[in-house]
Amino acid sequence: MKTISVISRKGGTGKTTISMQLAIHHYLAGKVVMLADTDPQLSSIESLKIRPTEGPQGVASTGPKIFTLQTNARRAGVDLLVIDTPPGREDDILPAISLSDLAVMVVRPTFLDLKAGALTARMIVQLQRPGLILLNQTPACLDGAEQLQVQNALEALALLGLPIAPVYVRARVEYQDALATGVSVAELAPGGAAAAELATVADHIDKLATQLSRKSLRSFG
Ligand SMILES: Nc1ncnc2c1ncn2[C@@H]1O[C@H](COP(=O)(O)OP(=O)(O)OP(=O)(O)O)[C@@H](O)[C@H]1O
Ligand SMILES: [Mg+2]
Repeated sequence: MKTISVISRKGGTGKTTISMQLAIHHYLAGKVVMLADTDPQLSSIESLKIRPTEGPQGVASTGPKIFTLQTNARRAGVDLLVIDTPPGREDDILPAISLSDLAVMVVRPTFLDLKAGALTARMIVQLQRPGLILLNQTPACLDGAEQLQVQNALEALALLGLPIAPVYVRARVEYQDALATGVSVAELAPGGAAAAELATVADHIDKLATQLSRKSLRSFG
């Protein structure tokens, strides 16, 4: 079983959006997926509740309970555990990072997100756990090039000591509509740009988490 946590110290960066999209994407690919929502707002659970068809299993949890949940999920044959986390609360974020094969740090290319991103990245680095920075709500390219705001964000993020996903999640209304209806962007708009982008992001994260979980198994053996 792989565990991926989706984190950021800052609110509203897109943790729930990315958690939901990853969980539903892998569910639709045939995996047994559990989405643990450790945010007291329970946004992922609320979104899953309005899902029109079967989907990933949503479980409300908290940081301190994640270890037990992970053990039970492994025993129950879950293939992928996605952990959506609340902003700010170290008690919930630290256990999620510690127990993950990969902690995905979601950040928008804005001044305040980048400032908070430095703190979030420090948590991952200090715990010596694998992390990945995922740019979300990125504006579209202009004349085939990333806008200055994105270029500046990439420069700042490069200093944080974590890899940056080579594919960015763009600001698209499909992500908002998908969250409001409990579906993936591929279900909402099959064959669309958001669906293609999300599939590439999910694939990159999955491959990285697979490599890292193999590495940690080898180090135990
Ligand atoms: N790529 C995107 N394009 C457009 N809108 C987005 C995108 N990602 C997230 N949003 C919107 O931004 C808002 C915040 O997203 P979301 O709830 O996923 O963030 P969050 O980090 O989980 O917030 P919180 O810290 O409150 O838990 C939502 O309205 C969501 O629809
Ligand atoms: Mg959220």
